[in-house]
Amino acid sequence: MSSSRLAGKRLILAVTGSIAAYKAVGLLRLLTQQGAEVQVVMTESSTRFVAPLTFEVLSGSPVTCDLFSSHQDMKHLSLPEQADLMLVAPCTANTLAKLALGLADNVLGTMALTLQCPMVICPAMDGEMWLHPTVQAHAKTLKDRGATIVEPEKGELASGQWGHGRLATEENILATLQGILQPRRDWRGERVLISAGPTQEPIDPVRFLSNGSSGKMGYAMAEAVAARGAEVVLVSGPTHLVCPQDVTRVAVVTADEMLQALTARFDWATTLIMAAAVGDFRAQKPYSHKMKKEQWNGDALPLERTPDILLALSAQRTHQRMIGFAAETEDLIEHGQIKLQRKQLDMLIANQVGGEHSAFGNDSNEVIVLTSNAAPYPIPRAPKRHLAETLLDCIKNLSTSSKSQHSVPSSTT
Ligand code: CTP
Repeated sequence: MSSSRLAGKRLILAVTGSIAAYKAVGLLRLLTQQGAEVQVVMTESSTRFVAPLTFEVLSGSPVTCDLFSSHQDMKHLSLPEQADLMLVAPCTANTLAKLALGLADNVLGTMALTLQCPMVICPAMDGEMWLHPTVQAHAKTLKDRGATIVEPEKGELASGQWGHGRLATEENILATLQGILQPRRDWRGERVLISAGPTQEPIDPVRFLSNGSSGKMGYAMAEAVAARGAEVVLVSGPTHLVCPQDVTRVAVVTADEMLQALTARFDWATTLIMAAAVGDFRAQKPYSHKMKKEQWNGDALPLERTPDILLALSAQRTHQRMIGFAAETEDLIEHGQIKLQRKQLDMLIANQVGGEHSAFGNDSNEVIVLTSNAAPYPIPRAPKRHLAETLLDCIKNLSTSSKSQHSVPSSTT
């Protein structure tokens, strides 16, 4: 992405009291390298992690920490008035709650209430705090009010624990800022139907067959294409992810429900991106009551195939671009080419599952793009949000000949 995309932009970087405050130093450098003018605001507890002087030297401007001293030059009013965007990174659970409730007991809370520009919030917290219903409710409140939440990532936390709370990568945060401040609107006029996440097939009311898909790739595609101007419907299997801004989400559980939800909207769509990891098997006869251990006599659970959704939709295709993903443990290209042909797709994005670098659950991914008329195109490892932008470029550039083979007049609104 061009470095000029933040040139001349006036940003407020608000730093709160998380151990990840040190990462805000790198972020500040990146933003200034991208040409942004950055004013730093710190909560009192964040100054226990990083000295304001560090931010002052790197931003070339005084840091605003104290509400009472900021009253003297009215910084709490003038900064939000002049800013193009306010970035809260890292944002603790405490600040997230204050922002959601509109508390103004520090300079950051006060500024947030007078802000006229977009706010981007990058939560970072320990353990499983991010998944706590209260924290999720605060994130949703802020999102509903128009803030953009850059999801924290899974990984090793400062406490040494493994959890879902690590500050998003610099690349992800930067891509989000660029998307908001200098959006490309090259998908305007398109209607994009995306599936994401795993499906779950019940065995009994408490057990199910599923897979390790997190849904992150499909959600990243939905967020990116909506930011680029498309109308987006995201049909999602069960995930913990927050629905991206300007995206309509339809929640489903089983492969049958996903097929129904996609079929109902297929005529409307100009592009289908099938990023879901649809389960291939289900119990022939799910139990209506919880199966007791003692009831099991050692017999195998009889399974049957679920519908192949892509295959069913490609049979009904009229004008849609159709994009599939392939989850493979070996021979990516060979197996991917077979799926590309069998499911009659315009593009198949093959990724490796299983092992340390599995596409499932990771925040980054590397893929090989397969089309019927070009050589396999490998895209190196990148954060999924970044990868989504590159994949959207590839989809947009699909030869018009492959699209026009299936073209009908675009009256299917
Ligand atoms: N897919 C689908 N319906 C299914 C299974 C998969 O529409 N029942 C879609 C997936 O969303 C993906 C593509 O088909 O876009 C390839 O999925 P993948 O799991 O890689 O392959 P399968 O078709 O399931 O084949 P196999 O399990 O033999 O690898």
